[in-house]
Amino acid sequence: MENTDMKQIQWFPGHMAKTRKLIASNLKLVDAVVEIVDSRTPLSSRNPEMDRLTSGKPRMVLLNKSDLADEKATQRWINYFSSIGVTAIAVDCKSGKGLKSLMPTLKAKVLRELMEKRERSGMSGAAIRLMIVGIPNVGKSSLINRLAGGKRAKVEDRPGVTRTKQWVKIDTGAELLDMPGVLWPKFDDQSVAIRLAFTGAISDDILDIETLAMKLLKFLSESYPQSLRERYKIEFDDSDDGLSLLEKVGRKRGMVVSGGEINTERAAITVIDEFRSGKLGRITLELPPAKEKLCQE
Ligand code: G4P
Repeated sequence: MENTDMKQIQWFPGHMAKTRKLIASNLKLVDAVVEIVDSRTPLSSRNPEMDRLTSGKPRMVLLNKSDLADEKATQRWINYFSSIGVTAIAVDCKSGKGLKSLMPTLKAKVLRELMEKRERSGMSGAAIRLMIVGIPNVGKSSLINRLAGGKRAKVEDRPGVTRTKQWVKIDTGAELLDMPGVLWPKFDDQSVAIRLAFTGAISDDILDIETLAMKLLKFLSESYPQSLRERYKIEFDDSDDGLSLLEKVGRKRGMVVSGGEINTERAAITVIDEFRSGKLGRITLELPPAKEKLCQE
């Protein structure tokens, strides 16, 4: 995906530095790191430094919002993570689906050695301490609320809002370290930023809404043509560019202004909203790297 009109994304290197330090100093307090990513963008919704920041600690990946992602693609991501030695499971923190297997998987796969050691020393009842990490909007608060049962206040993690770290006990014998601070994804890669704007993970101010919708429609026409046809009852082929697709959607929905022109802004808002709320079906925006690439890693 190419884009030349992208506005500068504001980010906060000072906050990142602080968060890095916090992760480093708290890592020794936990048994494992649980990293939450968005199933629709499992690589784009990660902080690329996470591997280095948490190296040496057992780690598990939760592919959250799996209710919105393509199931086959999610399975490919689970296989991909497994191929690089990381246990990943698909979850939906909104409904709670998949969360039941979190602790059993952690104990059986990620923390097997520790569990065996504790068993031998008669400490198997000790709480498992987990650090929860993830970029904003991936579902950290939803996960913690689900696991802790009962509603906890949503804690702001916007830059500039200070909060302290806190431990949250969950009844499956674990304690979660809810980390303050913000870890951003890799904004300097434009295709990453565009995927995150599609899902609403970052502000859609980075692009005007029409450009964003055109890019999304082009992607869908190539990767999920059936979803596009079913939702909007439009016909298209390879020769349709993003604008032509957007106009087709607008025309079909009767979004016409005086003079017969299509109101492409309204059409764009509709497409983006419907994609984000899952009305276009279950869609994944990126697939795991090819095998050849994997081998080089
Ligand atoms: P964060 O702490 O990492 O910033 O994320 P948070 O839990 O606040 O979740 C961000 C948004 O994603 C919320 O929506 C939340 O409901 C939604 N979400 C979290 N997990 C899932 C999931 O598995 N599936 C789906 N479909 N959505 C999920 P929101 O629009 O900000 O709020 P609301 O819709 O809950 O009112």
